[in-house]
Order: sequence, then C-alpha cells, then structure tokens
Amino acid sequence: MKETNKVRINGVQIAFTDEGSGEAIIFLHAFPLGKAMWRAQAKTFRATHRVITFDWHGFGESELSSKPLTMERMADDLSELMNQLAVQSATICGLSMGGYAAFAFHKKYQQKVAALILADTKPSADTEEARRGRFEMAETARTKGAEAIAEAMIPKLLGETSQRNSPDLLKQVRQIIAANNPQAIAQALLAMAGRGDSNEQLARIHCPTLILCGSEDKLTSPEEAKQMFQAIAGSRYEVINGAGHLSNLENSQLFNQAVSKFLVQP
Ligand code: MLT
Repeated sequence: MKETNKVRINGVQIAFTDEGSGEAIIFLHAFPLGKAMWRAQAKTFRATHRVITFDWHGFGESELSSKPLTMERMADDLSELMNQLAVQSATICGLSMGGYAAFAFHKKYQQKVAALILADTKPSADTEEARRGRFEMAETARTKGAEAIAEAMIPKLLGETSQRNSPDLLKQVRQIIAANNPQAIAQALLAMAGRGDSNEQLARIHCPTLILCGSEDKLTSPEEAKQMFQAIAGSRYEVINGAGHLSNLENSQLFNQAVSKFLVQP
C-alpha cells in the first residue's frame, strides 16, 4: 500500500493514502478501526480508480483534536480533504460509522457525491438505551484503554464464520483497534450517540447507490439494509455472505466484486 501522507484539515493533521488515477473513490472507516481496514479495497481498485483512504481524527495515524467530534465535523473534514486533494466529486463508500458520516456528508455536500456505497450501516439515530451504552463504553475507553474496547467490540463486529475460521483476521482487527487513542474512541462514541436520524434524507438521495450488508451482521442487520434499499429510489442491494459487520474485511472477495460491478455500471 502506498505510504501515508499527512495534511492539515480544520486545524488537525489527518493521515491519508491517495493512489491510482481516474474517478475517485473515498473510503470512510468504521468505529473503532482506521483506514487500515480498507487495504484489500485499495489494492484492488487502485488499478482502475483514484483510491483515497484516511483516518478520522484521533484514529490510526491522524492527530487527536481537542474539539468534540460530530458527524457534521466529519463531513466538513471530508469536504476539506477533497478540496486539498483537488477532488471535485467522488464515490463515497462508508462502512457503519463511515456510513453515518456519509449521510452527514451527503446532506451538506450533495454536489460532491458522485455515487454512494453504504455498507453495514443504518439511517436511524441511537435509541436512549443505545446512547447510554455509548456513554458507558466511552468511560471504559478512558479508564481501561483501547484493549478493553477491542475485547468488547470484536464479538459484535465479526460474524460467526470469521470468529470460527479466521484467527488472523481477529488478530488484525484487534491490532487496529488496540492501536487507537482511547480519547478518540470516546469522542467517536459521543459523536455517534449525538447523530441525528437520516431516514428522511433517504428520499433525497438521487445518485447511484449501492447498499451492502454482511449476512451475519449483528449491529446493522440485513433487514435494516433492505429497508434502506426500499427507501432509496434506484438503489441496489447485495448481501455479503459469510460476513458479519466488517463485511469488506470478512469477505473482501465478494465485497470487491459487488463494488466492481457497481463502479462499472452504477
Ligand atoms: C461501526 O462499526 O462503525 C460501529 O459499530 C457502528 C455503531 O456502533 O453504531
């Protein structure tokens, strides 16, 4: 993978990769991972596209911000990254929290979205109970560190097939999570807890849209993905078999095939 570059975005050093050429596709990572989760996609799509991945602030190699994180701020950061890289519009592919950020980005910067890929994500806001769980997890991150978050999240992130058959993947995901700054993890939890409902926005999505969901996803179910598919006119929907919530990592072959098909014929 091409080496990481750094750029100052809204006062914070953001780490990104930028490889290949042609139409741009920008990958937005899930919670609590980092741009490293997109390696298999970058490797495949750099042959045909300009592929950009980056770490939300505080994650991976990006600097932590002293300001609170919100979905709108994430959208602003993405917009500014595109400005600095002279990318006018791109296919935006967000997985889970990356998808929440993609909704916020589409809401504010629709003209910069050529197409959307919404993977293992949902438009609804958190319930009160889910919010309480986020606040507790933020406290765990601050007091016990990123390892404790990896421990709590891995059984939810990975599907049963991966948990049974892919010890290397488990190790890789654990490493990505454990290397993150616990403060960034806490900030992202508060950002997700505070996000609004994007259901009404679905009817305003008019660009080509692909919805993907792992068949074993326990965090954002295939049923919820199907509802999104029904609410976004002209969208496409594919289930990634044998994958849980991190469908791009758990079955990168099927995930990439679905994305390839969509990129050729949006
Ligand atoms: C993610 O994968 O980004 C998170 O698990 C999403 C969430 O907790 O809502």
